[in-house]
Amino acid sequence: MSEMEFSSRCVGLGQGRATEPCCIVVFGAAGDLAQRELIPALYDLACQSLLPEPFTVVGFSREDMDDKSFRDRMRAAVARQRSFETRHWERFAPHLHYVQGNFDAPPEGDYALLRDKLRSLQTRHGIPDNVLFHLATPPSFFSDIVSRLDQSGLAGSDKGWRRLVIEKPFGTDEQSARDLDRRILEVFDESQTYRIDHFLGKETVQNLLVVRFANPSFEPIWNRNYIDHVQITVAEDIGIGTRAGFYEKTGVVRDMVQNHLLQLLCMTAIEPPVRYDGAGLRDETAKVMQAIRPLDVRLDAVRGQYGPGHMNGKAASGYRAEKDVAPESNTATYAALRVMIDNWRWAGVPFYLRTGKRLAHKLTEVAIHFKPTPHLMFPVEGGSLSGNILAFRLQPEEGIIQTFVAKQPGPGLCLQPVTMNFRYASAFGIEQLPNAYSWLLHDAMGGDQTLFARADWIYRAWQIVEPVIAHWAAEPPRDFPNYAAGSWGPLAAEGLLRADQRAWKTL
Ligand code: BG6
Repeated sequence: MSEMEFSSRCVGLGQGRATEPCCIVVFGAAGDLAQRELIPALYDLACQSLLPEPFTVVGFSREDMDDKSFRDRMRAAVARQRSFETRHWERFAPHLHYVQGNFDAPPEGDYALLRDKLRSLQTRHGIPDNVLFHLATPPSFFSDIVSRLDQSGLAGSDKGWRRLVIEKPFGTDEQSARDLDRRILEVFDESQTYRIDHFLGKETVQNLLVVRFANPSFEPIWNRNYIDHVQITVAEDIGIGTRAGFYEKTGVVRDMVQNHLLQLLCMTAIEPPVRYDGAGLRDETAKVMQAIRPLDVRLDAVRGQYGPGHMNGKAASGYRAEKDVAPESNTATYAALRVMIDNWRWAGVPFYLRTGKRLAHKLTEVAIHFKPTPHLMFPVEGGSLSGNILAFRLQPEEGIIQTFVAKQPGPGLCLQPVTMNFRYASAFGIEQLPNAYSWLLHDAMGGDQTLFARADWIYRAWQIVEPVIAHWAAEPPRDFPNYAAGSWGPLAAEGLLRADQRAWKTL
């Protein structure tokens, strides 16, 4: 391939801005998220030589560890998650450091230790005073940490930049999200605030935009004239593991719908921005959110909680029997919603959203269901053919699957649905796609906010889901648990689509 061909194929998404030499401080470094996602993501960047030079990570959390035991713990975590290579690890590990501290410690205590550690690392490695704070702690600490960063003098510098990456859920409702923002904006400004939703770092999510807006063939049919409805599924086979403390307070709507599912909906429904940049993309997703019709919870929403069942042939316990879950808990672990977007493009096209824990298997996809042909010239049983489906598969086996009708070879005219399959792994010769956090951390280190949520998006997302949360809290379910672990969710979810003469796609 000539250089010219290569560069013409590689323009656009994924190039991002170059990262700048910096320190990343991970609050909650001993926690689940840091071990499962953040450190493996940084390790992935190191393997691809995409980390800035010089660079360092400082983990901050309550656990008693030093640099060495922190590195050992992270090594085990990375080796569990990804294909691990000692030579890469040995280059990456010296960048990892640790400070033991309480998130709500007085600023002159543990935070002063953190400040001293940062200064000494900056001096020793010649790192400019650029610091990215990543809050990977329980959300209840976000506000405290921001205050302590301010009071200890860590939040500002006249020699470099400060950025704040903040995990979801951002608040527990619109008011608390606004309160948290108010606190953050007393210390950092919006251009320093990176509200992360790791789904936006997934390759296939970004590919939704590329397929729509870099190919002329999709956009003309991407509207109510050709699309019958859209199904967005985020199915998980895992239960809640050791996260009962978090999940009991959060539930499926706050954990998955308010952020991941609404982001997927936005990426599917968005109008073409003039330019692919933070302002363009975020302005257009905000317009989609504004056009979402308020939900009529009784008609548009179904909830569920898993009971005992079977996963992969083994008995699996129900949610109420999980460690630290109340035996009478009414926390929903499944939600299905019918969402209407009242704008010119999508009027009358339902977006069906479903997500749940302990479903039959892990699968995330956005499926565009096209209308059937207006007239059928072929004689078929039942007089109709199902419409084409274009499915964007986020996991597993990232790719795009187009279902259409073809003639079965043979003498007569027998029609059969067939599939055309684009798989990322084979098309690009990649065994395992990079962790979504890699790209987002890379963007944050480069000062690119395109794939991070703006405050107005978050507030609107809460406005959309709050009636569901309120209604479900006011009317406790009578049928929980209402789906078996290892099934595809409650029967009522089938009813949601049946009422519209439709059915969920078989997965
Ligand atoms: C997280 C949720 O944001 O996303 C988890 O808190 C969920 O409950 C996870 O399991 C799913 O992410 P992924 O990338 O595994 O689909």
